[in-house]
Amino acid sequence: MKLTETPQNRKVRNPVRRAEKEAEFRYASTAMRCVNEAPQGGKRSKTCLNIQAAKPIDELEWIGCLWTAAPIGTAVRADVFTSFPDLGSRAEGYDMILEGKSAIVTGGGSGFGAGIARRFAEQGAQVAIADINIESAAAVARESGTHAFEVDVSDSGSVSEFARAFCRDFAAPDILVNNAGTTHDPAPLEDISEEEFLSVFRVNCMSVYLTARYFVPHMKKAGGGCILNIASTAGLSPRPQLNWYNASKGWMITATRTMAIELAPDRIRVNALAPVAGETPLLKRFLGEDTPETRAAFLSTIPLGRFSVPDDLANAASFLCSDNAGMVTGAILPVDGGRTI
Ligand SMILES: NC(=O)c1ccc[n+]([C@@H]2O[C@H](COP(=O)([O-])OP(=O)(O)OC[C@H]3O[C@@H](n4cnc5c(N)ncnc54)[C@H](O)[C@@H]3O)[C@@H](O)[C@H]2O)c1
Repeated sequence: MKLTETPQNRKVRNPVRRAEKEAEFRYASTAMRCVNEAPQGGKRSKTCLNIQAAKPIDELEWIGCLWTAAPIGTAVRADVFTSFPDLGSRAEGYDMILEGKSAIVTGGGSGFGAGIARRFAEQGAQVAIADINIESAAAVARESGTHAFEVDVSDSGSVSEFARAFCRDFAAPDILVNNAGTTHDPAPLEDISEEEFLSVFRVNCMSVYLTARYFVPHMKKAGGGCILNIASTAGLSPRPQLNWYNASKGWMITATRTMAIELAPDRIRVNALAPVAGETPLLKRFLGEDTPETRAAFLSTIPLGRFSVPDDLANAASFLCSDNAGMVTGAILPVDGGRTI
């Protein structure tokens, strides 16, 4: 994995200096916005981001010294993957089981994806969050030392542009987490509009196809990697009123198993997590009406008696994406407190 060596990114062992570095790192993580807002023109630069001059996200302005190979005048968006300091062992208390790995987490700006991105960073991975909502992705990136990219995973052009930018700096992702997802509101299956149906299938299914199309060739060339799809108990044990969402997750489970068998000779492992209802912004949409009664009714179907939380998914994801799971592929792991038994 390439990380450009600059005075900013040498390992910092002195604790005082390290604290300063961490402050700088938080600012550096906002660089994506900085690039987005860069005026056209200016000097083609091969120096690193001037961290001193970077400001909190609301006050960012172009400071003109970002490492980018983009020609003068192009709208650079995802070229920021170069000049970030390597803080070495940033996480106290976690095994660095992902040290040296590069990872992409789609939909990492919220909920499960944010939990997974944070944990991966704590365990030593360099993480790119690819989210359609750049504000929330940048906020997660700022506090977790990850990097935010504005990507619509349901759009071919957006994913291919992201893949091109990512693979310019990294040969390929070691880890790709297809987490971005959406649902339709609970309703009888014949009442869901074509627009809602297509939106669910574009974000939940088309995205898996597009990331495969644009990243798998690089992963094959790099000699392997791992893909983790965030499915759902809805794909294993469907319930009424969420028919097309359930079906999209069933599709994802079959896609995971067939990808695993086809990509095994290329040393690419493919697994899925099947979370039960979780404490994220999406939960309200699954519940329809979020009241103490609807919550209690749902909880009564989960033997362990609670909703899942992002940390549950982060724990399972970090195992499946680490070398500890080197012999695990095609697995659909319920993270469901026993709901699907
Ligand atoms: N929360 C639950 O109860 C639950 C249960 C089972 C499975 N899941 C699955 O877990 C995954 C994460 O869900 P969550 O609950 O954390 O949801 P969330 O709404 O908190 O986060 C979803 C993230 O995906 C991003 N996103 C949506 N459309 C996108 C697009 N087109 N391109 C890029 N990013 C996009 C959103 O901006 C958001 O940051 C989803 O696939 C969901 O289906 C959730």
